[in-house]
Amino acid sequence: MNIQLTEEHKMIQKAARDFARTELLPGVIERDEKQEVAYEQRKKLGELGFLGMMVSPEYGGGGLDAISYVLAMEEISKIDSSVSVCMSVNNSLVCWGLEEFGTEEQKRKYLVPLAKGEIVGAFCLSEPEAGSDATSQRTTAIDMGDHYILNGTKNWITNGATASVYLVIAQTDVAKGSRGINAFIVEKGMPGFVVGAKENKLGIRGSDTTSLMFTDVKVPKENRIGEDGFGFKFAMKTLAGGRIGIAAQALGIAAGAYELALAYSKERKAFGKPISEHQAIQFKLADMATEIEAARLLCYKAAWHKDQHMDYTQSGAMAKLFASKVAMDTTIEAVQVHGGYGYVKEYHVERLMRDAKITQIYEGTSEIQKIVISRSILQ
Ligand code: CAA
Repeated sequence: MNIQLTEEHKMIQKAARDFARTELLPGVIERDEKQEVAYEQRKKLGELGFLGMMVSPEYGGGGLDAISYVLAMEEISKIDSSVSVCMSVNNSLVCWGLEEFGTEEQKRKYLVPLAKGEIVGAFCLSEPEAGSDATSQRTTAIDMGDHYILNGTKNWITNGATASVYLVIAQTDVAKGSRGINAFIVEKGMPGFVVGAKENKLGIRGSDTTSLMFTDVKVPKENRIGEDGFGFKFAMKTLAGGRIGIAAQALGIAAGAYELALAYSKERKAFGKPISEHQAIQFKLADMATEIEAARLLCYKAAWHKDQHMDYTQSGAMAKLFASKVAMDTTIEAVQVHGGYGYVKEYHVERLMRDAKITQIYEGTSEIQKIVISRSILQ
């Protein structure tokens, strides 16, 4: 693996860093407190091409590699993971899923505006009783010939209220188990489709996470993705790439907290010298820097596998498992370095600590990553 960043990579990294500092940092505390979505900033992010980074230019995307995506995700997540989760879902789950498996008509109609960031998408797999156990879908899609009738409820959907296009996983034939599941493109505004209340969350409070209700929603057959029964594999393949995005988000949260702790430790004095000159703090900084570097290398490796068209299921799961633990551990230590200041909102690290937790839960809990990794090792 060549981990030398190219000039283009460095430019993308800088553009994402500048955007995060100038556009996202002002107001991030207030948005978190009020649970406000950064609409304007997300729009600008889309105009800069960050919402469809890896999509081919033919369909309105940036045509960039997965390493570029990891670099941008890290920088945005250092400041605002409520925005980076929208970016991750749109890039990895919605755009990638459509570009890889959609028909030409689906790509022209839905992928192009999604890749240009004119609209955002949502990925709808989780249900009240089917989060980790993804085959137990209760949402049904009955085949009516030229259309399907969709009924059911989805939970914890990122971009739930603000998306325009929803990729919905549903059961069409219970007897066939995972092979009786399909994925559908559902548009906001289709009769019978209702967006539920926004969740009041511990972290990523500026992202809109909602439930979705479908009552006799008529979905045209041309909105099914792939062959009949492809929905479960579609979800698994899509999530495999999504995990690289969330691993990079976790990396960014950890790196953001570490940078704040490092800067603070040089300013804050105790016992007559900056706390960075006390070994107790130096050991913490050394542990944080080492773990972050290891997480970064795992993220790059998974992205590199993707760019080389190699299997990235295992490396993506390893990156997410490890980086999300590093995010949790590092943010807790960053609060500790800040002492009492770390516990108040102005210093940002308490928000990063709250945001870190979700990276161990969504797009597969840490336990699910261990299942994916062990299956890959043992196969
Ligand atoms: N790629 C391709 N195919 C795959 C696959 C993959 N990564 N993983 C499984 N499959 C295939 C299997 O080969 C099998 O195919 P056959 O029928 O042809 O043999 C089929 O899918 C069924 O596989 P399993 O029997 O292994 O399925 P399982 O029920 O045991 O589930 C699991 C495996 C890994 C636990 C899976 O259920 C899983 O990943 N669960 C977690 C789901 C998840 O991540 N949820 C998060 C919600 S999305 C989200 O959070 C988005 C957001 O908004 C941020």
